[in-house]
Order: sequence, then C-alpha cells, then structure tokens
Amino acid sequence: MEAGDKKELLGESFQGTPTVVPSQPTHTRKLYLESYGCQMNFSDSEIVASILSDAGFSTTREEDEADLILLNTCAIRENAEQRVRARLRQFKQAKGARPHLVVGVLGCMAERLKESLLEQEKLVDLVVGPDAYRDLPNLVDQVHGGQKAVNVLLSREETYAEISPVRLDANGVTAFISIMRGCDNMCSFCVVPFTRGRERSRDPESIVREAQELFEAGYREVTLLGQNVDSYKWNIDNKGVIKDEEQPVVRFAELIDRVAHVNPDLRVRFSTSHPKDMTDDVLEVMAQHENVCKYIHLPVQSGNSDVLKRMNRGYTREWYLERMESIHRIMPDCATSTDIISGFCGETEAEHQDTLSLMEMMSYDMAYMFSYSERPRTLAQRKYENDVPEEVKKRRLQEIMAVQKVHAANRTKSYVGRTYRVLVEGTSKKKEDQFFGRTTYNTVVVFPKEDAQPGTYVNVHVHDCTPVTLIGTITQDSEDA
Ligand code: SAH
Ligand code: SF4
Ligand code: F3S
Repeated sequence: MEAGDKKELLGESFQGTPTVVPSQPTHTRKLYLESYGCQMNFSDSEIVASILSDAGFSTTREEDEADLILLNTCAIRENAEQRVRARLRQFKQAKGARPHLVVGVLGCMAERLKESLLEQEKLVDLVVGPDAYRDLPNLVDQVHGGQKAVNVLLSREETYAEISPVRLDANGVTAFISIMRGCDNMCSFCVVPFTRGRERSRDPESIVREAQELFEAGYREVTLLGQNVDSYKWNIDNKGVIKDEEQPVVRFAELIDRVAHVNPDLRVRFSTSHPKDMTDDVLEVMAQHENVCKYIHLPVQSGNSDVLKRMNRGYTREWYLERMESIHRIMPDCATSTDIISGFCGETEAEHQDTLSLMEMMSYDMAYMFSYSERPRTLAQRKYENDVPEEVKKRRLQEIMAVQKVHAANRTKSYVGRTYRVLVEGTSKKKEDQFFGRTTYNTVVVFPKEDAQPGTYVNVHVHDCTPVTLIGTITQDSEDA
C-alpha cells in the first residue's frame, strides 16, 4: 500500500501500532502504549497519553525500557481478541525478568474479559474500561502497592471533553476529534454497545475549540469521530425534549457547519454515518462548504432486507438505495465507501447475491469487508444460530472482495486526467522524493515534491494511477475538484 493509505476509521485496523510522544524532563516513568481496533481507540489512546503525562509518564517506542505497558484493545471480531491475548502472553514472559513492569489492558476487551485476564490467566495487573481512563494514575499506584487494579465502569456522561489529547504519531496535518462515545443502536452482530456503553455526545463548544486549536497548531484536516455521527445531539434528549431552553440545540448538521466555519483551509471529514439516521440536512451542509470533504462512509452490511432485519440495522435495501440517491442528488461527485459482513446468521445464497448486486449498483470507492464472527452477549448470539459454515462465509467474502477490487480500480482510473486540490500530508513511504496527500474524495495522490510543504494545499494534475493510488504532478492550473 502507498504511504498514508487511508487509515480505517471505525473498522478494525492498524493492529498494534506503538505510539510515542516526546519525553519531558519531569517525566520519570515510561509508558509503552499499543493500540488495536478502530480510530476511536486511537483517539482514546491520545487521551490516555494526556492523562498519564500529567501523572509523570512519557511514552516510548521501546517496550524493553517501559515501566508501564498498556494495550488498548478491540473486541469487534474474535481474531482481534486472539491477537491481543498472544501479545499479552509475550509480555507475561517479559515480566519474569522485570518484576516491576506493570502490564494493563484498556479498551473494548476490558469489560468482557476482566475476570479471565486478571484471575484465570493472570496475564495482566490492570484492566481499565473506556470510560475509566481518568482513574488510570490511581490504578497504576494501586498496582505498585501490590494489588491488581480494575475499573470497567461504563458512564452515561464521560466524554473527556476538556482533556487535551496528546497527539500521538502525529503528522501535524490531520487529526481525529471524538464527538461522541458509546452506541445505542444494538445491531444484533455488534459488541460495541456492550464494550463502550450508552451513546453520549460531547459539548459542541469543546469540539469547535479543539478544531480551532488544531488549526492554530498547523493542522489542516480534522475527522469527527463517532459510531453513529448522524445521531449526534446536544441539549436535547432521545425523546426530543430540550434540556435548557436558553441554549441552542445542536445536531450533526449544525456541528459540521460550526467546525467548517473554523477556517476555510481546515478540511472536515467524519465517520461513521448510519443509513437509518443520515438526513438530507447533513448532505446539504456538506454541499455548502467547500472544505467539508465530498466523501461518505455509509456501511450497508448486507444488500438484503431480511438479513438487515436480522441484523437489527433499522433500514431496508430500498431505504439504503434511497439514501445513496440523496447523496448523489445533493453532491453528484461525492465518493462513497461501505462496510460489508458475509455469512451472517441464516444468510442464504440468494441473500448473498443481493449484497453483490447492491455493490454493482453502488460501485463504492472503497469497502471494509468481513466474515461474520459471533460475539458473546450480542442479540445475534442469543437469538440466531451462527449457521453459515466457515468455508461458505470465506467463499462469499472472497466474492465480495473480488467485486470490490474491480470497482475500486475502476473508480481510481476514472479520476485520472483531471486536476485536484490536494492536502499534502507527508513523504511517500515508497519514494523519498515524493509527497503523498489526498483529494476531497479521500483518494491518495503521490507526486514529486518540488517546493511544496506538508500541511499546505497544492493543485495536482493526475496523469496515471495504480489500482488504489493516483499519480500526478504539481501544476499552477486551477483544480477541477
Ligand atoms: N459504528 C459503525 C461500525 C463499527 S464496527 C457502523 O455502524 O457502521 C466496524 C465494522 O465492523 C462494522 O461496520 C461491521 O461491518 C464490522 N463488524 C462489527 N461486528 C462484527 C462481527 N461480529 N463480525 C464481523 N464483522 C463485524
Ligand atoms: Fe455496532 Fe451498530 Fe453501533 Fe455501529 S451502529 S457500533 S455496528 S451497534
Ligand atoms: Fe472500536 Fe474495536 Fe471497540 S472496532 S469500538 S475498538 S470493539
């Protein structure tokens, strides 16, 4: 893959990336922090680093020199958990030689596995759930006092609104801003509502302030993060009752508008949209602002209405098609991507064909594709039989991937021959003398550096491509998009 190829937003990705911040003289202890799963977890790691930095920890990339090792874990599919367990066994061995080393589990596996990790397998000293990170300094002290420490309480209020994240692995150009936490949707396959608790939105003023601070620090793109950004709401409850009559109600369309107004040179992206909640006013705000990128990630999961019903997604195939029509009506050039699950409970061959046919109609720029993995406590686990044989799930996944590969390559090719406004992100991993950046459509472009700088915009004429990357040169011509 090309340098800087899209980080997966709310799907599992980026396994085990160690993160690092510069050490300061007052920081006497060292933290090694490894993050798994979705971008929400990576964003949380930046909050953890901030909280622990205040407690005297600097981060390190070298696990050998760490006093504290934390794994921010993902539970979305079984193989995600297996990877973490294997890693914890390695650290357990390391602890043999370094008795003072503290090893802890954060994130989405914490809630579910606290007993087995702490008591049965004795793999860790510390287990902390996603809403309890403020308690981390105390819990670490508790471990130093000779006890195991646990806090997996989920909260209805915690949004870490005023904590200024320590930007880890930062390129200084693009950053993520969490706008909400948890999820109330209860899709039947999904473990997130159990690992991250109830949905709550963050104060819009703190979000806009964070965007402003990032812009002032030289950042030029923010991605607003939530499991279902379309259900962002401030000052109004789920039943539509306004909490404070004196204050404005802020929904997602209004929030995008506010963030887009921070500066025309600050690009705004967001993830993840939900087909059942995505309204036209969001699309209209996107269309109004040049700096809101013309790209929507709209997970479909399946192209068949009966499967969607069993998945408890809250929409039908027809509803989804209508939402995509609205996107293309309001923003004819908007790029789209999706998530798809193969082999969900009871999926027939005909139902699988409906997914393939929907893909043919949509021709997505990009897709994250998975085979169904049963998760403990979910509705699907309690209600349906996980009855599609593993080899059938895999074969269907291969078919889905093969279709997507063709569509992605066609989409990339269709971008060749035009000039794009590109935000320069950094040096291409493959070629030292080239930069990479993205178009508004989120497609990666590589081009000779000339005298451009990361964090600035350049117009790039695209003359060639690989299946996923555009190849171009900087031009003085005005952009087509
Ligand atoms: N909140 C986002 C997605 C979060 S999880 C949304 O609603 O779209 C990211 C993706 O992982 C999901 O879209 C889904 O495609 C996949 N996923 C979630 N649970 C899964 C499971 N049990 N098995 C396989 N894939 C799953
Ligand atoms: Fe999971 Fe559904 Fe919530 Fe996404 S919207 S996090 S898939 S329950
Ligand atoms: Fe994200 Fe994995 Fe948790 S996808 S929300 S880290 S279960």
